[in-house]
Amino acid sequence: MIKGFLFDLDGVIVETAIFHYQAWRKMANDLGFDISEEFNETLKGVSRMDSLNLILEHGNVVLTEEEKLELAAKKNEHYLTLVSKMTADDILPGVREFFAQIKQTDIKIALGSVSKNAKMILEGVGLINDFDAIIDGTKISKGKPDPEVFLKGAAELGLSPEECLVFEDAVAGVEAGKNARMKVVGIGHAEVLTKADIVLPGFENIDLTELLSKIQ
Ligand code: BG6
Ligand code: MG
Repeated sequence: MIKGFLFDLDGVIVETAIFHYQAWRKMANDLGFDISEEFNETLKGVSRMDSLNLILEHGNVVLTEEEKLELAAKKNEHYLTLVSKMTADDILPGVREFFAQIKQTDIKIALGSVSKNAKMILEGVGLINDFDAIIDGTKISKGKPDPEVFLKGAAELGLSPEECLVFEDAVAGVEAGKNARMKVVGIGHAEVLTKADIVLPGFENIDLTELLSKIQ
C-alpha cells in the first residue's frame, strides 16, 4: 500500500528547468558553443557538477577542477537571480489542488530533489511547510539516477520503498525511482519517460483515488 509520495521539484512542482537551461546556455555561449533544448533534456535531474561535466564534454572543453568550480558558482549565481523572482504563481497548474487532496488522507509528502537550491525555491513559492520531509542536494552524495535521494526520502518518512510513489519529470529521475524499487508516475511525455509506471501530462484534474487504484 502506498503511504508516501516523493516529489521531485524542478519540472514537477515548479518550472525551473527553463532557468537552469538559460543559465547553462549563457555559460556555454561564453565558452564558445551552444546547447540545444534537446541536449538540455539530458541534464534534467542531473546534479550541478555532473551537468557541468556533461556540458563541457559536449563542447569539447577541458578545464581544471578549480575552473569548473568557478564556472558552477557563476552559473548558480545567474540561476539564483532568475529564480529569486519566483512566487506562488510559478507553482505548476494543479499542484496545489493535488496537495489539498493528499492532505485529506494519511499519505505523507517528501521532497526528493538533487537541487541545492530546493529549500530556497520552496520558501519563495510558499510550499515549504507542506512537506513532511525534505531531501535536497545538500543531503545526498549521489545524483539521480542513483536512488539515494528517494531512499533517504522514504527513510525520513519512516516508510519502505514499496510504500512510496515517486513523481518525476526527468529520465534520470524516473530511473532513480525505479532503482529505489518504487512505483513512478512520470510527469511529461510517455515517449520520453518510457520507464515510468504511468505518465501524466501534469497535475491538472488528477483524482487521487483514481491514481492510486491505477498504480496499486
Ligand atoms: C535538478 C535539476 O532538480 O537539480 C537539474 O533538474 C539541476 O537541472 C539539479 O542541475 C541541481 O540543481 P542546483 O540548484 O543544485 O544547481
Ligand atoms: Mg525534475
